[in-house]
Amino acid sequence: MTSASLPLAGKHVVLGVSGGIAAYKSVELLRRLMDLGADVTPVLTRSALEFVGAPTFRALSGRDPLVDLFRADEPIPHTKLGQGADLVLVAPATANLLAKFAAGIADDALTTTLVATAAPVVLAAAMHTEMWLHPSVVANVKTIRARGFRVIDPERGRLAGGDVGYGRLAEPDVVIGAVLEELGGAGSTLRGRYVLVTAGGTREPIDPVRYIGNRSSGKQGIAVAQEAARMGATGALVTTVAAPAIPGFELVQVESALEMRDAVMSRLDRLDALVMCAAVADFRPAEVADQKIKRDGGAPEIKLVANPDILAEATAVLRRSKPEAVVVGFAAETIDALRHGEEKLARKRVDMMVVNDVTEEGAGFGTDTNSVWLIARDGSRSRIELAAKREVAAALLDKAFALDREPHA
Ligand code: CTP
Repeated sequence: MTSASLPLAGKHVVLGVSGGIAAYKSVELLRRLMDLGADVTPVLTRSALEFVGAPTFRALSGRDPLVDLFRADEPIPHTKLGQGADLVLVAPATANLLAKFAAGIADDALTTTLVATAAPVVLAAAMHTEMWLHPSVVANVKTIRARGFRVIDPERGRLAGGDVGYGRLAEPDVVIGAVLEELGGAGSTLRGRYVLVTAGGTREPIDPVRYIGNRSSGKQGIAVAQEAARMGATGALVTTVAAPAIPGFELVQVESALEMRDAVMSRLDRLDALVMCAAVADFRPAEVADQKIKRDGGAPEIKLVANPDILAEATAVLRRSKPEAVVVGFAAETIDALRHGEEKLARKRVDMMVVNDVTEEGAGFGTDTNSVWLIARDGSRSRIELAAKREVAAALLDKAFALDREPHA
């Protein structure tokens, strides 16, 4: 491979190192980043220097690692560093560093760079198990993730002082994989496209505490939004389940089919693709009790009424207003999956149906894997054998956007 064709060629990565026993592993990360073609500036905290020496970083990167804010001989001002970075990786990120980043504290070269950058930030956490599980650390990680930054969970293994537990810095492959995902890979295939994804099973209220629900975990829908983001798209994830922050995606939390319909219909005018992964309940209680239904009133009879078919409604509007929009539906079936899928492809006038038999081992609700058929309006059918939901997501997005873009009649 020539250096220009290396995956991180031309990318400027700031490698932040904070003070934990795992700091020595950042040397390996520095080497790997450079092998991938990145131009790396190491930035160490004062306490990192208790664990690793600046000369190692200088020798490997060819640059003096930055530590202090106010040294006249430091060649790059901290704000410039943040502004010029394509990505900031902090490995290890200690509890202290995470707390500062969550609070926006900038009191040394590393924290100032973090607050001064608009580039993606990846933080690989490493600390003692008790610290990782402490409510303040949990809250800080949640805050950081909600802002769209990536925190890599620590792994289980040997820790400082001979203890064993969660807290060990993730393996270099995992950390480098996250960097590549943020910076490299597909990256731009869906740039400029707006993708609206729905996820999870709707909850149809009976009274203030009860609902009718289904077994959909939302994992496949979340994976579609994550993959679309990785391919460069922006969009919205309309979800009934908790989802991580996804860069470039608006998270819209809904519960019922009616709320989901509003969230979808109000965004139709800007979308390039609609992927309806959600398991929308076909029926809802006709009336929702104001107060909790009490046992002493006897077993209630709950009358159901039909919910709108969101996919059908959205497609009907899109076929008129935006014939070039790509519409993908899902069919979770328990019998004759393909036949039902074909029937829904025609009935719902979508471009593609993703069909799975949820009774198959490793497919469907709650699993991290899926095996599906992709059946398209152009008559093509392809099978994806048991694969991670992220892989299924990538394959279905590739196929959906590659379909013949003949507008619907
Ligand atoms: N869907 C929807 N609104 C509904 C029901 C379903 O938007 N009220 C969407 C789902 O998100 C999915 C597709 O339609 O993308 C197929 O859902 P499915 O429940 O399999 O279809 P139904 O038409 O409800 O058929 P069935 O009789 O098998 O339930």
